[in-house]
Amino acid sequence: MKFVVWMANHLENRAIVDDYIARNKEYLNGHELVVCEDLESIKREIADADVMIGWKITPNILACAKKLKWIQFGSAGIDHTIFPELLASDIVLTNLSGIHTAPVAEHVLALMLGLTRRLDIAIRQQKEHTWDRSEMARTSDELFEKTIGIIGLGKIGLSVARIAKAFGMRVIGTKLSVGETLPNVDAIYLSDELDKVLMQSNFLVLVVPLTIETKAMIGKRELDMMPNGAYLINVARGAMLDHEALAEALASGKLKGAALDVFLQEPIPSDSPIYDLPNTIITPHTGGSTPRYGERGSAIFKRNLDAFLSGGEMINVYDKGRGY
Ligand code: GLV
Repeated sequence: MKFVVWMANHLENRAIVDDYIARNKEYLNGHELVVCEDLESIKREIADADVMIGWKITPNILACAKKLKWIQFGSAGIDHTIFPELLASDIVLTNLSGIHTAPVAEHVLALMLGLTRRLDIAIRQQKEHTWDRSEMARTSDELFEKTIGIIGLGKIGLSVARIAKAFGMRVIGTKLSVGETLPNVDAIYLSDELDKVLMQSNFLVLVVPLTIETKAMIGKRELDMMPNGAYLINVARGAMLDHEALAEALASGKLKGAALDVFLQEPIPSDSPIYDLPNTIITPHTGGSTPRYGERGSAIFKRNLDAFLSGGEMINVYDKGRGY
């Protein structure tokens, strides 16, 4: 069989991506693997390829594929590369859901602790060689005995729950279906009971996939429902959040702080007002960054490869109805 790798947009993570591809290659003994770095080569090589490994496909590349059966994407969410022709095709789409469970959960806690312990001020003052206790002492806060609302009790959400519990937090959150108990979660709500979660959450964490239901899910109305002085952390997708409403909530003091790893437009342009949001920590979509990407990604790829070659059941298959 022929496998093609389309490196689009991933040259910036080169060492980590190379590790993932090298590990996948080890499993492809006896098969052809072609790595494509420019548009011309992928358009040529995908024509007779059976499988694509990559991060993104576009309508013009898809149009060149004559026998493609499976695409293994390199991210957990693949909302950025879904378009009508792809949905209409029979190509099986699989993602790397699960790969970010540890790093994103740790990132969330790092952001929460950074906000409450005011590491943003400390880092700024350290750079300026300034010793000033006033703002940090006045505004530092705690996680202990606060309520964290996790929007999306999936793999990452449950990992956040585990760590939050260890910090003595009350953990609540939403899920598409309830009925089972979940470890480290004190109360589970259905996705359409978001308001109940908002009203209780001192920390609201978005870790849900981007779908029609979750797009623009947090606006002024939702932020107003949160307790005064709450914090918002978004490590999911920028399109879920109204950034103007967030700016207002931060300026009025309704929210005490925010941390954002994802944005509607990435990279954020350097003149974006998002950079100037008060009491906000911004990370450039690095929540999932980890040296263990290749190891974990190739384990998922291997499992799917075995299933694909033997006609077995693949994991992490994109569900066209559900939208993730
Ligand atoms: C990152 O945002 C991913 O979906 O993998």
